[in-house]
Amino acid sequence: MSGRVPPGDYAGTSPHWLREPADVNALVPVLWSSTARKGDDGVLHIGGLAVPDLVADVNTPAYVLDEDDFRARARAFRDGFDGYDVFYAGKAFLSTAVARWVGEEGLCLDVCSNGELSVALRAGVDPARIGYHGNNKTAMELRRAVDAGVGRIIVDSFHEIERVADVAAQLGVTQGVMIRVTAGVEAHTHEFIATAHEDQKFGFSIASGAGLEAARRVLGHDSLALRGLHSHIGSQIFDTSGWEVAGRRVLGLHAEIAEELGHVMPELDLGGGFGIAYTTQDDPADPAVLAAQITKIVTGECAALGIDVPHLSIEPGRAIVGPSMCTVYTVGTVKEVTLDAGAVRTYVSVDGGMSDNIRPALYDADYSCTLASRASDATPVLARVVGKHCESGDIVVKDEFLPGDIAPGDLIAVPATGAYGRSMASNYNHALRPPVVAVKDGQARVIVRRETEDDLLATDLG
Ligand SMILES: Cc1ncc(COP(=O)(O)O)c(C=O)c1O
Repeated sequence: MSGRVPPGDYAGTSPHWLREPADVNALVPVLWSSTARKGDDGVLHIGGLAVPDLVADVNTPAYVLDEDDFRARARAFRDGFDGYDVFYAGKAFLSTAVARWVGEEGLCLDVCSNGELSVALRAGVDPARIGYHGNNKTAMELRRAVDAGVGRIIVDSFHEIERVADVAAQLGVTQGVMIRVTAGVEAHTHEFIATAHEDQKFGFSIASGAGLEAARRVLGHDSLALRGLHSHIGSQIFDTSGWEVAGRRVLGLHAEIAEELGHVMPELDLGGGFGIAYTTQDDPADPAVLAAQITKIVTGECAALGIDVPHLSIEPGRAIVGPSMCTVYTVGTVKEVTLDAGAVRTYVSVDGGMSDNIRPALYDADYSCTLASRASDATPVLARVVGKHCESGDIVVKDEFLPGDIAPGDLIAVPATGAYGRSMASNYNHALRPPVVAVKDGQARVIVRRETEDDLLATDLG
């Protein structure tokens, strides 16, 4: 087409890792859930269903959740981290159906609000297998959690220690708690989602002695049972070097608490943060490989300190639900924009955007996408898929090659949107948050319905 930069001549306009695909119709398997397929007609199938048929019923945008894939990833963590407790981090995505799958696959569940707790309890999750997070839990929230019998509350401040101790004493129970500590480790990930710097809101700093003091205070309350330390070093992490440094510091404190305060904690939680593939630049490791490396780090450190290995737990969210879900959009407009260097970028506007996936705007996150409703033999063009919101930063996929004949009415699917997509979705511009449709063995089930204008207007009291 006229004005288009010849294939392969995108110098300076596309990221270094993006290559023009040999076949623009083909899926890159690592980005997609395990049942995703394309036939010669280019139509994307997930869970045995053709995506165009699926969205003909529920409209777009829609999140499509591959149940078999979700369950398989949950099992891969359960089996790979054999001997650990695996807590699925519900903040990544939670619904009653997903909470049930988590329980059925033998995982525990993390929540971080009364809302998430309500979903878990409605799903019938055993409260003893729930961990409760958050840096500012109110007395009311804590009362609800303690009253429900939540197995462990991860305390995050001196104020909270007193608050949860009071609540447990009033209810006449002994509440299990973990102490969230910061190990001063900067995980290899984006600045805004690395959560183990000392200069951050979460946890008690080990280096400053706050972690030891927190343990002293917890042990001073008969209504609290100190089960262990908790350390979450960041998100979208691909190698275990961060856990190695954090593990050494956290186990150092674990040993110090035993020696100084005479309390041997039975447990240790190493948090979540396991990375997934959003684009071809990401190369995630198998959970079993990560497990072997992390276990070696912990057992080696415990041996060096002369202490028993505590019962370990982890909290993956993204690595379970992220690749299990994709988002399907309809193309509304296509526009060519000439860049300074004379190159042309094709802007493809879809019917969703930052209200259903805030991660590109919030973290500069990269995604990929594919034409989901047909095959094309048109020459690929460098495209930017954008949303329909009133922000120029409303980007869905910053850089991707799409067929040059991409046109209004085409369906585009973005893989790996399961984590922090629907869970961070907003009503910006009064958008209606999309449904989540679970697919399995040729059957589709809406597990979260699309919002309606009545839902929006219900909170507007005039
Ligand atoms: C304490 C804690 N645990 C687990 C997670 C889950 O992280 P991910 O979804 O990257 O595995 C988070 C994410 O922010 C977290 O803060």
